[in-house]
Amino acid sequence: MAAYEYETHNYDVVVVGAGGAGLRATLGMAEQGLRTVCVTKVFPTRSHTVAAQGGIAASLGNMGPDNWQWHMYDTVKGSDWLGDIDTIEYVTREAPRAVYELEHYGVPFSRTEEGKIYQRPFGGHTTEFGEGPPVQRTCAAADRTGHAMLHTLYGQSLKQNAEFYVEYFALDLIMSEDGACTGIMAWKLDDGTLHRFNAKLVVLATGGSGRTYFSCTSAHTCTGDGGGMVARAGLPLQDQEFVQFHPTGVYGAGVLITEGVRGEGGYLTNSEGERFMERYAPTYKDLASRDVVSRCMTLEIREGRGVGPEKDHIYLNLNHLPREVIEERLPGIAESARIFAGVDVTKDPIPVIPTAHYNMGGIPTNYWGEVLNPTAEDQDAVVPGLMAVGEAACASLHGANRLGSNSLIDLVVLGRAASIRAGQIIDPKAAVPEGPKAEVEKILDRFDSIRHADGANPTAQVRLKMQKAMQKDAAVFRTAESLKEGCEAISTIWDEMRDIKVTDRSLIWNSDLMETLELHNLMVNAITTVYSAEARTESRGAHAREDFPERDDKNWRKHTISRVDESGKVSLSYRDVHTEPLTPAEQGGIDVSKIAPKKRVY
Ligand code: FUM
Repeated sequence: MAAYEYETHNYDVVVVGAGGAGLRATLGMAEQGLRTVCVTKVFPTRSHTVAAQGGIAASLGNMGPDNWQWHMYDTVKGSDWLGDIDTIEYVTREAPRAVYELEHYGVPFSRTEEGKIYQRPFGGHTTEFGEGPPVQRTCAAADRTGHAMLHTLYGQSLKQNAEFYVEYFALDLIMSEDGACTGIMAWKLDDGTLHRFNAKLVVLATGGSGRTYFSCTSAHTCTGDGGGMVARAGLPLQDQEFVQFHPTGVYGAGVLITEGVRGEGGYLTNSEGERFMERYAPTYKDLASRDVVSRCMTLEIREGRGVGPEKDHIYLNLNHLPREVIEERLPGIAESARIFAGVDVTKDPIPVIPTAHYNMGGIPTNYWGEVLNPTAEDQDAVVPGLMAVGEAACASLHGANRLGSNSLIDLVVLGRAASIRAGQIIDPKAAVPEGPKAEVEKILDRFDSIRHADGANPTAQVRLKMQKAMQKDAAVFRTAESLKEGCEAISTIWDEMRDIKVTDRSLIWNSDLMETLELHNLMVNAITTVYSAEARTESRGAHAREDFPERDDKNWRKHTISRVDESGKVSLSYRDVHTEPLTPAEQGGIDVSKIAPKKRVY
């Protein structure tokens, strides 16, 4: 048994992660008087939400007619009919209220001439249940919307006396014998001390796992830590095969260029100068949904119409836009294009390529954020004491493909929902539970064995192998062959992890150890992604199988539940999609015939 001392802290709620969802949950919990702590490995305003550019979707109707039913329809269609209908209704209905709330908290939204919140078009957002023109639904603070939100939510959380433990790395969940979560163990990065947080509720808001891929828009911190923690606690992940590729990552650098560029009138061209999206998506063109645009770009490149010396990317043109549009609404991407592509966007196109961007899958939850552990008897069985929100979670708002700007609304609506539910289930007067000591010792033993790992495979080398395998075998287009290779490659890498080498044994600012712990989490996400993808023999949303090009609702309109054990064995099962709206049509809900599955064309 590893001999480590640790400090113990007791709270009503521990939120792990301080991105948009983590902060909104923290704020909501603290507002209700729950003793709340947010434990985060990076300073809150450096969380990856800071990189969210284009905006947050809500049917405010500031720029033309809009309503939540149209937003709901677009989200159901965008999800390729895999999204849970109750979650989609909840989020799209609540979205306008959530955006006004952000405005009142102080988010500096861009404004229209009349002083209303400015909204721009984004891919897949339409009017008239997909029959009308694109809608301007994405509320923007220039192209720095996530940045503005993070600063506002952090300030508001401090105002409500939420506590923050910054630069603490969460190691694992402390689970009780009866399967409830009772807290977490964490490692304080700057002084090497260990901390036990006991809580009535743990909320995982740890973000996505984009760094399983070689080229991604995600920060280096996006290592799927929550997914790793739940898997080690014997809990499953959901719909891991659905990984979104953003059409416009800067070629070679991966840095995001917002879809807002196309929303403001930018367009894509191939080596022939052709606006090829007109051919593939005659109605919505460059504003078709992301999975569609990414596939079209990949096809153009494959068919020899890519640009550049190696004909391996595409141009994004915005040099025709008025200078004031760029200066007022797209200043951030003008700067990114200059720094990362050496391009002056007022003169030249930006070289772009589809780049891994977002995980639709994650820790399964209901729309209150409660983590699910489906059993044969109860597909929606809740894990007591545990919630997940944001990209770490899969409440299945996004199903098989997320619409741009639906991520920021997910964070705030479902972050708030988690706090509402917490207010209902937590008794502030009750004692804080203390999980079994044996569990804590197990966590510390694991930490110690990784800290002293002295194998043959340096962490950076193993990570690179994983990233290259994912990039090659679980990409925009997939086949049985590529996915089989992916499964074999990732399983081999899983075995190599047993022989990992950590060179730094210290506990203070040991980035080698932290990256190794992160790699363990990444590998959980990578292995569940490839095995889930190999099993799904259809094409749906971001999961495009060349050998199974059609969506197959009869056999596959269901969520994949994946579990991985210590040996790297992945077990798959399935869970039904929630197909019933929350509100009947006669009480103002959507007419269900509008959201019945049909072919998805833009
Ligand atoms: O293109 C973008 O601004 C990204 C937005 C999103 O992923 O929602």
